[in-house]
Amino acid sequence: MKECRPSPERREFLWTAASLLGLGLCLPAVLNILQGCSSETKQPSETGETVELDISTVPELQRVGGAVKRTFGNHNGGRPVLIIRLSGTEFIVLSTVCTHQGAEVNLPRDGVITCPQHGAEFDPASGAVRKGPATQPLRRFPSQYDSARNVLRITF
Ligand code: FES
Repeated sequence: MKECRPSPERREFLWTAASLLGLGLCLPAVLNILQGCSSETKQPSETGETVELDISTVPELQRVGGAVKRTFGNHNGGRPVLIIRLSGTEFIVLSTVCTHQGAEVNLPRDGVITCPQHGAEFDPASGAVRKGPATQPLRRFPSQYDSARNVLRITF
């Protein structure tokens, strides 16, 4: 779970505001009520490293619309990515880390990727948000399909 702390300036402002209003509440209670911190999840940094996936070894990816979750070592912070076949020669690779609070999103079902934690929905063809509370798209990793070798190259 992400830690969410207001800046010292904001804490001081909230404390002053609470004092001026005579709320008589302790600082943590005021902060809990008023902090309204961003709920966006920090994403792992890019490494620029490329991995190859032999598509012939992944039964789920033999048909258009097929999808699978795969983990590639510590890439994507050690969390799985979602690999979806969009057409005969197109794939998309998305992080499974929900941009709301970091839960692992589900495989696409009925044309939508859902987060089980708070119900955010994402477009499997782009990772775009379809329904909140998430406001940012799923992170997309660049990928290139080599049809001659039936290999997908994913850059992290
Ligand atoms: S973690 Fe809240 S909707 Fe995904």
